[in-house]
Amino acid sequence: MSEIKVTFVQPDGSKRIIDVEEGNTLMEAAKYVAQPYVEGIEAICGGQCICATCHVWVDKKWIDEVGLPEDNSQEQAWLDYEKTARLTSRLSCQVKLTKRLDGLVVHIPEDKNERISPKAIDGFGD
Ligand code: FES
Repeated sequence: MSEIKVTFVQPDGSKRIIDVEEGNTLMEAAKYVAQPYVEGIEAICGGQCICATCHVWVDKKWIDEVGLPEDNSQEQAWLDYEKTARLTSRLSCQVKLTKRLDGLVVHIPEDKNERISPKAIDGFGD
């Protein structure tokens, strides 16, 4: 396994460049490899794809390489409720880092405290 670099860009434009072994997820790079962890990637479910607090916007230059969530996937369902979702949105716990993603740039959405819409919370447990 070799190391790759990923860059997390905060809403204020500040950047964190993390060296991470391929095979980790993007969330793991931000939450567990980075010391201290990358602000804005709370990842409270630990990568189980049930919280959406690991939401990122993939830089437009990288979205073809990263790819979009599969239709009807759990990831896409969460993003459908995400107030700040864009066409390049991904849940970072669902992005496995490979050599071809060396140099990847992602952006942390603003309004992280407003991520989950009341509609999503109301639907919990239905
Ligand atoms: Fe919870 Fe990604 S860490 S959905």
